[in-house]
Amino acid sequence: MTPAALTGLDPLATAVVLVDAGLSVRYMNPAAENLFETSSRNVAGQPLSGLFADFGLLMAAIGNARATSSSYSEHDLELTVNGRGRLHLSCTVTPVEPVSGDADEELLLEFRHISRQLRIEREERMHEQSQATRELIRNLAHEIKNPLGGIRGAAQLLDRELERPNLHEYTQVIIKEADRLQSLMDRLLTPHRLPQPGWLNLHEVLERVRSLIEAEFPLGIAIDRDYDVSLPPIKGDKEQLIQAVLNVVRNAAQAIAGSGGKGAILLRTRVVRQVTLARRRYRHALAIDIADNGPGVPTELHERVFHPLVSGRAGGSGLGLTLAQTFVNQHRGLISFDSVPGDTTFTILLPVEDSGA
Ligand SMILES: Nc1ncnc2c1ncn2[C@@H]1O[C@H](COP(=O)(O)OP(=O)(O)OP(=O)(O)O)[C@@H](O)[C@H]1O
Ligand SMILES: [Mg+2]
Repeated sequence: MTPAALTGLDPLATAVVLVDAGLSVRYMNPAAENLFETSSRNVAGQPLSGLFADFGLLMAAIGNARATSSSYSEHDLELTVNGRGRLHLSCTVTPVEPVSGDADEELLLEFRHISRQLRIEREERMHEQSQATRELIRNLAHEIKNPLGGIRGAAQLLDRELERPNLHEYTQVIIKEADRLQSLMDRLLTPHRLPQPGWLNLHEVLERVRSLIEAEFPLGIAIDRDYDVSLPPIKGDKEQLIQAVLNVVRNAAQAIAGSGGKGAILLRTRVVRQVTLARRRYRHALAIDIADNGPGVPTELHERVFHPLVSGRAGGSGLGLTLAQTFVNQHRGLISFDSVPGDTTFTILLPVEDSGA
């Protein structure tokens, strides 16, 4: 039975667990029941160590709170609950007066789910850091573009003047390579077109990408869909969003194809609530997950995949994700990823402006 004094904790959105001096669970509020997928009745009286498989860090936080008789917060906690998936949480431990007279000390544990917010903050930090590099590369691209036009023009003139036909091969190489560099520079410089927003349905964007990829990779790659049909329309530049999603899905398809195996890509959409993007809080955002079971992003590239010219693929120009990130950022959104071999997910979050919600 829940003591009357505890029912006040029931409506809290934060997951709250109360343990006694022997670290046995006395009570869980409904938010905690949800988070840990259990019921207060099931776990009442159970030791905390039975609930969590790996609670060393939590134990240390409890030790700190007890030693100082005040609140202690652990911001980066990973807990495995009853053999289920791992949860990424923050936890504040607070020693409290016993609710009933039969225990001499109790501890209040408040848990918050942080993985998405933590990931967002990490990506935002990385994005800020890469701004300077990008500016440098843009300036460099500009400087390369101008003389390149001159080189190509001169090679063309030379080509017309050459009398020995076997020399044309050389001028053609100059012209072809100048064109290749030119298009690389153009790709480096394009993202600064401002978005031309209109109302759009994200599923149309995803379906377009799906058909493009299916045409490009006719063999061996299955594209599954898990769409949230309640997704509201958003304001955005359809072409840019198609390009952003296409670049991410194409990477997944190339990773699968490159590893030789048969693989699958999953396109998932969800509405998420209460998200902070670029320091602005939104009531709703749309999440697109692009998951694949390919070999995963090489570990040494994890910190840099969004940087321009970073590629782990033979023949890759390393601009696909840079462009995707620029387009998503221009929509005030965020792109991030989690990757281990066999399980890679890129997530694009796009805010729903309140007027459009
Ligand atoms: N889903 C994925 N699985 C495995 N590796 C990936 C995945 N997505 C990206 N990568 C890695 O990140 C690198 C950078 O990707 P990005 O799209 O920016 O460049 P690229 O694909 O190499 O070249 P481009 O897209 O310009 O043709 C890739 O070369 C690849 O090594
Ligand atoms: Mg790419």
